[in-house]
Amino acid sequence: MPLEVAIRRAGAEDVPAVEALLASASLPLNGAAEAVARAGVVARADGAIVGAAALELYGEAGLLRSVVVAPDHRRTGVGRAVVAAAEALARDEGVRDMYLITETAIDWFPRLGYTPVERAVANEAVGASVEFTTICHDKGVPMVRRLR
Ligand SMILES: CC(C)(COP(=O)(O)OP(=O)(O)OC[C@H]1O[C@@H](n2cnc3c(N)ncnc32)[C@H](O)[C@@H]1OP(=O)(O)O)[C@@H](O)C(=O)NCCC(=O)NCCS
Repeated sequence: MPLEVAIRRAGAEDVPAVEALLASASLPLNGAAEAVARAGVVARADGAIVGAAALELYGEAGLLRSVVVAPDHRRTGVGRAVVAAAEALARDEGVRDMYLITETAIDWFPRLGYTPVERAVANEAVGASVEFTTICHDKGVPMVRRLR
């Protein structure tokens, strides 16, 4: 990751920029603002938000969502860095198993330690989430990583 990219905890003031990144990547906006403000991280470069990731918390299970990097900053490690920062935040929140559901990065998340998991298992853990109930329901692949 280039030196000038800094990862930090997101705040409510970051929500519009993160929503713009999500929209341009055609990722779900439902629940994103709440997740980003409650438990999100952002990558910043030259005063602009160039990446983000957020969590929804369900006890010992976490849902990693809204992972996005601006197109002109991809393939430089920003994606890996925002996921690592979200995982650190999740550990601090007591999360043991981090779930996600993805249609667009099915081959990417396994490089970060995630493995496909049966939908029933994921549903049991994070099935109340907006993403699992309303989005990606048919084509999305659920995955999990044990954090601790
Ligand atoms: C997926 C995404 C977050 C990766 O961000 P990134 O900053 O490019 O990731 P990194 O730089 O850490 O990793 C890049 C590596 O992963 C690969 N990669 C990136 N996106 C990938 C994808 N969707 N599928 C498979 N491999 C992918 C790149 O080819 C690169 O490989 P290399 O190191 O061999 O060159 C980014 O491509 C993105 O925002 N995509 C659109 C939104 C999205 O799909 N988010 C996930 C929703 S669940």
